[in-house]
Amino acid sequence: MFFITTAIDYTNGAPHLGHAYEKVLADVIARYQRLRGEEVYFLTGVDQHGQKVQQKAEEAGINPATFASKTTKLFLNLWKKLGLQYDGWAETTDERHKACVQAILSDLNERGELYKKGYKGFYSVKQEQFLTDRDRNEAGEFGPEWGQVEERDEENWYFRLSAHAEWLKGFVEKYPDFVTPTIRRNELLGALANSSELDLCISRPKERLRWGIEFPFDTNYVTYVWFDALINYISFAGYRAKEGSNLPEFEKLWPCAAHVIGKDILVPAHGIYWPCMLHAMGFADEEMPKILVHGWWNRKNEEGKVLAMSKTFGNVVDPDALADRFGADAVRYYVVRDITTGKDADFDVERLIMLYNQELANELGNLCNRALNMTARFAGGIVTTVSEAGEDEVKLRASLEAVIGEYRVAMDAYDIAEALKAINRHVTQCNAYAERNKPWELAKDPALKPRLDAVLYHLVESLAHCAVLISPVLPDPAARIASQLRMDDLLSLKLDDLKWGLVADGHETGKPKPVFPKIVVEEEEGEEIG
Ligand code: MSP
Repeated sequence: MFFITTAIDYTNGAPHLGHAYEKVLADVIARYQRLRGEEVYFLTGVDQHGQKVQQKAEEAGINPATFASKTTKLFLNLWKKLGLQYDGWAETTDERHKACVQAILSDLNERGELYKKGYKGFYSVKQEQFLTDRDRNEAGEFGPEWGQVEERDEENWYFRLSAHAEWLKGFVEKYPDFVTPTIRRNELLGALANSSELDLCISRPKERLRWGIEFPFDTNYVTYVWFDALINYISFAGYRAKEGSNLPEFEKLWPCAAHVIGKDILVPAHGIYWPCMLHAMGFADEEMPKILVHGWWNRKNEEGKVLAMSKTFGNVVDPDALADRFGADAVRYYVVRDITTGKDADFDVERLIMLYNQELANELGNLCNRALNMTARFAGGIVTTVSEAGEDEVKLRASLEAVIGEYRVAMDAYDIAEALKAINRHVTQCNAYAERNKPWELAKDPALKPRLDAVLYHLVESLAHCAVLISPVLPDPAARIASQLRMDDLLSLKLDDLKWGLVADGHETGKPKPVFPKIVVEEEEGEEIG
């Protein structure tokens, strides 16, 4: 079982391209694992509690539940538009999740993992956490990244995070695959080496935050939003689920194959709090999840300075509008093609258009169009596989075999961009092969019919393979190619089934229709979007 989750997005506003990237990345990985023949469970969702949502709801003059449910719809609509295929949907206001969080709190309290104490200190409303002197900048102040900082004196509940710090250090050292890629793992090791972990404040008094999960044994408090949110990964996987809750069987899903998250929430939330919480609940080392950390989509501002895409900088790209303008396929393709998993990239609408037009419209779309068109025109739509294969055909088959191998290695390493580049290499080879062998010339001489058949067959067979390979990233276009090939079962093939000979002798192909209509942008419009 391959159980994959994403971070759950805050519902304090509309989704932006960073959110969309992460969900598409996870969707591509989930679809690839299905292609490998794995049973997959893909969980994603929204983080609905916390001060930010309460604050935004107040500003809008509505209650937080209404506000959160409104913004949740924006995420749901976008995921539909982008064709995400998830199996579980996590909303933290779900009663089943609340019951699970409360059961865990009671359990941890009974195990002596929680305690209550008074604390006076500075609190960042934006980051929803108490600050320490370590969070001050060189001038001794709390910088703008903390937003509004208030002094607070209150009693709260604490989780004995420090009691698990030594275990965590040993665990991260012992299991190199806990965090991927290595640079992020090193970042976590660095953070662990430089800090003596303090205990974690996991409650908020209701006087200042009502919008959260109530403490089961101290009802004047609600649960700190991170403590609540992290638990989604197990609550929606069926941990401590009640009979009839309609949740999966926990033992079947856990441990998680991959939590897909952005680099900003590795330390401390996913790399420190989460494993310590699980450890305190009694999870063994072998039951810890794996974490895949991706980079950020950034965007240049008007002066050309690269900034993280965030509402604070006002430089967010709206994925919904982007999909309306260029189509969901172009957005899905771009967000995984123009970034290396783990690294950052700059959003550039011109590259989106260029990559789509060049690699999809001009190359793959062209291969589809010419393979089917020429088979229809020169061979009555019939593929003849018993044909004359020469040196050029041997080369083309070798190219495909190599590409399938490279694709597999890249996808197994979550390197989607490299996998796409591998497919493109074969497509380019195919188009060059067609140019070299000129079926339109071969068709003029009946004596050359065996050569013509060989060339057409090699193009059609290659196209069928490419449709399967690209299907995790572009499921709809892959289905359109399969249907034009009249190979309706093509996409139920598994990766291991990809061997030369998918197309049967005498198979009749269908008519080509443009799979990737070229994006045409008027000059003024380009300036507006970019
Ligand atoms: N609610 C928390 C996560 C809780 S998980 C138990 C949160 N939400 S978020 O809405 O701020 O971010 C959701 C995800 O989007 C995170 O993984 C974050 O890293 C990712 N991204 C936010 N901005 C991003 C970019 N500009 N680029 C890529 N991903 C980014 O954190």
